[in-house]
Amino acid sequence: MSRALATARSVQGNRPSLRTLPAGLEAARLPVHVAVIMDGNGRWARQRNLPRVMGHREGVEALKRTLRLCSDWGIGALTAYAFSTENWNRPGEEVSFLMALFERVLALELAALEQEQVRIRFLGDLQQLPSGLQELIANAESRTAANTGIHFNVCTNYGGRRELVRAARALAEQVARGDLDPAAIDEQAFAAQLHTAGERDPDLLIRTSGEQRLSNFLLWQLAYAELHITDVLWPDFDEPALVQALLDYQSRQRRFGGVDSVTP
Ligand code: IPE
Ligand code: IPE
Ligand code: MG
Repeated sequence: MSRALATARSVQGNRPSLRTLPAGLEAARLPVHVAVIMDGNGRWARQRNLPRVMGHREGVEALKRTLRLCSDWGIGALTAYAFSTENWNRPGEEVSFLMALFERVLALELAALEQEQVRIRFLGDLQQLPSGLQELIANAESRTAANTGIHFNVCTNYGGRRELVRAARALAEQVARGDLDPAAIDEQAFAAQLHTAGERDPDLLIRTSGEQRLSNFLLWQLAYAELHITDVLWPDFDEPALVQALLDYQSRQRRFGGVDSVTP
């Protein structure tokens, strides 16, 4: 049995429709960790003369779709950018809608995530989120902590710079207490202070809606990720769009600064 299928079976839970890996993709060369900047919800809505928030609602469907496909195909981790530290600058009604949407979706989807063996975590400065959402997050994280399937990380009030500053401060505090020798701070020790501690770095970053920037996402962790930028707007992101991203990834030669080609 292929690695993808074997993993998929083990995480299937009670879900009946398990998607097999499309022809053309090599199970052994799939990215282990996929990160996605889910962009273009507002433009999707504008194209349909709908309020921007309708794009966010539809974006949830795209995320559920993407998570299930990644899980079925044996991808180990999916990290999605849901709300940045800069997104508070949006109109108050849009921010409130998004917070309420996160709460509603989490409450509605938790049982299915639990059953499908998904381990969910929220990465970011969570203390700034509404208290009801914080409680739902804590509950979802603890109820799925022992799950053995895909790692699903939702970056919420996440900012790469804020994460790096927080890590630097945590290390500085350990040094000030006398618990840490500054000479012992290496890349591994630094990475252990990030929200993503314990997760390997993303192999593939997908950004939808054509923007060619990182927008403060995973600044440390994306150092050697392969980048796939598609014009597809996030709410339209579907199986063919994901297959396209994975084929693109499998066509790359990862060198990690060396000269020999290393297959992904
Ligand atoms: C991404 O879609 C979702 C969030 C940032 C929450 P946008 O809302 O940024 O959509 P565009 O970029 O305006 O089309
Ligand atoms: C990045 O998208 C943040 C999320 C997808 C959550 P933005 O739409 O906020 O990024 P910019 O403003 O275009 O850089
Ligand atoms: Mg955007």
